Amino acid sequence: MSITYKDAEGIQGMRTAGRLAAEVLDYITPFIKPGITTREIDRLAAECMATQGSVSATLGYQPPGYPPYPASLCTSVNHVVCHGIPNDKPLKKGDIVNVDVTVIKDGWYGDTSRMFMVGEVSIAAKRLCAITFDAMWQGIMRVKPGVRLGDIGHAIQKFAEGQGFSVVREFCGHGIGRRFHEEPQVLHYGKPGTLEELQPGMTFTIEPMINAGRKEVKEHGNDGWTIVTKDHSLSAQWEHTVLVTETGYEVLTLSEHCPKPPAFVNA
Ligand code: MF3
Ligand code: CO
Ligand code: CO
Repeated sequence: MSITYKDAEGIQGMRTAGRLAAEVLDYITPFIKPGITTREIDRLAAECMATQGSVSATLGYQPPGYPPYPASLCTSVNHVVCHGIPNDKPLKKGDIVNVDVTVIKDGWYGDTSRMFMVGEVSIAAKRLCAITFDAMWQGIMRVKPGVRLGDIGHAIQKFAEGQGFSVVREFCGHGIGRRFHEEPQVLHYGKPGTLEELQPGMTFTIEPMINAGRKEVKEHGNDGWTIVTKDHSLSAQWEHTVLVTETGYEVLTLSEHCPKPPAFVNA
């Protein structure tokens, strides 16, 4: 399957799905405190989606070689890199957790994730979350027609490694539209001037996974999904879905309470 370019109607559909995904994150935000379990977060999100009239894209999602994903969102705590499955273990003060929400509305997909700090967290954990947020925006701010995906990946990698962190290689951003994962792959590392040239109407995610320690990851246990850092170091991730416009980009997964872009974006 090749890259899909969205027309005006598709863009409207993607705007709606993207905003709803972000609003699910807004909705759960005040609940993320010491003592809540990730299963409770999942249930709150499922209720919110039902109210919206959206459907979780992750519940029952089954790419080739995987078991069906069992929850309405992903919760990746501390050294979990991605695809963590909600469970009954309460979050505790000092944890960092990525919550990744993908909804389907009228057949269109919106995909976004944020980091949450549970109570007071260490300075190192806070810095990893902040630098990963900035790394995502280092990629987003370069999106415009004519730029290549290698330019985006390079910007993210250079920034994250410049801060002493490492970039996970095994998972990447992706085209998105009427399917969850479309072409192209959006790597968070790379060489300037390489790979696909961006064109108006493309929609894809930028979702860097950044480790405090080494870049290597491994599968955890036997649930078929959970990915952790090999060295057990902390990992963080942020994700937006973006549209390539005639002159630049539009972030499709904004909402009233989503964190605002860093100052360097509009400087
Ligand atoms: N939302 C994830 C992404 O950003 C994918 C999660 S797939 C799941 O691409 F099955 F683990 F939920
Ligand atoms: Co996601
Ligand atoms: Co994604």
